[in-house]
Amino acid sequence: MGAGHTRFGVLDDGPRALLRRAVDGAFSSVDKGAERAAVGEAFLATIGFGGWQIGNSSAVLAEEAGTLGPPTSRVENACASGGYALRSGVRAVERGDVDLVLVAGVEKMTDVASARRRYWLGVSGDTEWERLAGLTFAGVYGLIASEYVHRYPNAREALAEVASKNHDNGSRNPNAHFQKRVSREEVLRAPRVADPLGLYDCCPVSDGAAALLLAPADQAHRYTDTPVFVEGLGAGSDRLAVQERPDLTRFDASRRAAERAFRDAGVERSRVNFLEVHDCFTIAELLALEDLGFAEPGGAVDLTLSGATRASGRLPVNPDGGLKSKGHPIGATGVSQVYEIFLQLRAAANARQVPGAEVALAHNVGGAGATAAVSIFSRG
Ligand code: COA
Repeated sequence: MGAGHTRFGVLDDGPRALLRRAVDGAFSSVDKGAERAAVGEAFLATIGFGGWQIGNSSAVLAEEAGTLGPPTSRVENACASGGYALRSGVRAVERGDVDLVLVAGVEKMTDVASARRRYWLGVSGDTEWERLAGLTFAGVYGLIASEYVHRYPNAREALAEVASKNHDNGSRNPNAHFQKRVSREEVLRAPRVADPLGLYDCCPVSDGAAALLLAPADQAHRYTDTPVFVEGLGAGSDRLAVQERPDLTRFDASRRAAERAFRDAGVERSRVNFLEVHDCFTIAELLALEDLGFAEPGGAVDLTLSGATRASGRLPVNPDGGLKSKGHPIGATGVSQVYEIFLQLRAAANARQVPGAEVALAHNVGGAGATAAVSIFSRG
């Protein structure tokens, strides 16, 4: 029914102010209006980066949203917290005893000193083998990218194309952390972070919040003439450490989540007009295309280099700039993906509108593929 979003980036605001603004935005976006008193349950996605209100942060949401009283819970599944909070929100609506459900996500990351940031970025990975061996989060994805580049010709070029495309899309998103274009050559020349990944292959560390208002489908027209429907949900899990998995270059959690979401929605992949995928590192976008069933193993290279995933292509991917350019305030990310889908499916995405978008998919990953949530939406 409604969706709100703050700017993503290095912001002065703290988590309370960010939440307040995102939730206010969600309420004011409801065309025919919605009362805060109608909210029967609320969910907050956050990992509590830096230790901020690591316990009971859901009470902060209730205060800032002006929805004190109904049950409010925090949902934490690393970077997939937002996708799982949406799932909890939809299940609460399906129970049938609430008028409105609020789903919000927030992270305040940039006020933490850089050594502590690395610690907090790592908390969602395996501790015993990966972190104690000195692997950073970028390091884990660097290992995955090394294997992928080794297996498939032109893969390094495709990674650069993902970065360049997503920066191009982000340049049209006023909420994006980065709003500047970057060429493939600049991506390839950038300083290395975790070989083969360079600076532009990584998402940034960002502050931000996003919020959604959900209602039962049969009540939709009380709130708006242009609702967006949740058609299907899927989620999946996998081993925490990548070394425990049979293949570094696929995320089975994403595969399971996608399979369930498509089955739940009863739609074919050919009906999906655009994707919001979890591109925390450029390699993750290529894996997502394959894991979600839009390309065979290794096929994401040609699909990406063909221009099909560009804003003007046949299957735009991350029209809002993705995590790469829009930014990745961890708990807010999965909620932000749905904000973009809400705008696009209501034909309200302005300069980055995907023409005629009717069906869209959101894909949110936690850790290096240990958890995933996929959701499919349609225009009302
Ligand atoms: N993409 C593009 N530019 C970036 C960037 C990114 N990811 N990160 C930083 N920059 C830019 C900054 O804007 C700054 O530009 P300026 O000099 O023009 O102001 C410059 O690079 C240096 O910024 P700084 O913050 O000092 O970079 P850093 O070296 O401390 O951090 C990374 C760079 C890539 C290590 C950091 O962004 C990172 O850790 N990203 C991954 C986050 C992550 O793992 N999230 C969880 C994933 S699931």
